[in-house]
Amino acid sequence: EKKKSLQGKRLIVTAGATIEAIDPVRFISNHSTGKMGYAIAGELAGRGAEVTLVTGRTSLPTPAGVERVDVLSAAEMYDAAVRAFDGADGAVMCAAVADYTPESVSETKIKKCDGDMCITLRRTRDIAAELGAHKGSRLLAGFALETHDEEAHAEAKLAKKNFDFIVLNSLRDAGAGFRGDTNKVTFIDRAGREELPLMPKREVAARIADKIEKILK
Ligand code: C5P
Repeated sequence: EKKKSLQGKRLIVTAGATIEAIDPVRFISNHSTGKMGYAIAGELAGRGAEVTLVTGRTSLPTPAGVERVDVLSAAEMYDAAVRAFDGADGAVMCAAVADYTPESVSETKIKKCDGDMCITLRRTRDIAAELGAHKGSRLLAGFALETHDEEAHAEAKLAKKNFDFIVLNSLRDAGAGFRGDTNKVTFIDRAGREELPLMPKREVAARIADKIEKILK
């Protein structure tokens, strides 16, 4: 049998939304479904890589051949991703991680009263930036989901998180972003930009895997 193109490589993919508990009933989260990350994990595994998928809660089936680590909060995702990055060849940061989390979780259901209420939120840790600071020669790729000044924001994240490349998608583009089965992305790295047309998420995943293959060669 022909050797697969990513055989022998260990890669991590983070995917989906994190969930930050307020009390036993309520939480703060976002609209990420995990589709893009799951498509990437499946594509990389299909090319022979040993893939660890660190995932928030989704309704998606685990892609074939992928080792799946389920987490809830940003803090849990941080621990799982940092642990898995040890001994990996690279990571693709696809998860929509909460930027803020309630400073404390009530052990009992918070009862409503007539007035307004205020929940203090604390910054979470940036998983991608942490991996980027210690990546050495390992590969690190990430995503930027933007609504305005897209390219400037993506370029700032590329530098700040020490990504090899970043995949920009804009909520202004029809067919891009949450839930759908298509995406419209621009790859940005230190050499420049490559704008791709609207395509199925699994095709975007294949283009990302092509880029990863080139970098790992
Ligand atoms: O800064 P922003 O959240 O827009 O950056 C997006 C990129 O950083 C994505 O690749 C996302 O998975 C990653 N990220 C992370 N940990 C965080 C926040 C973002 O890994 N706490």
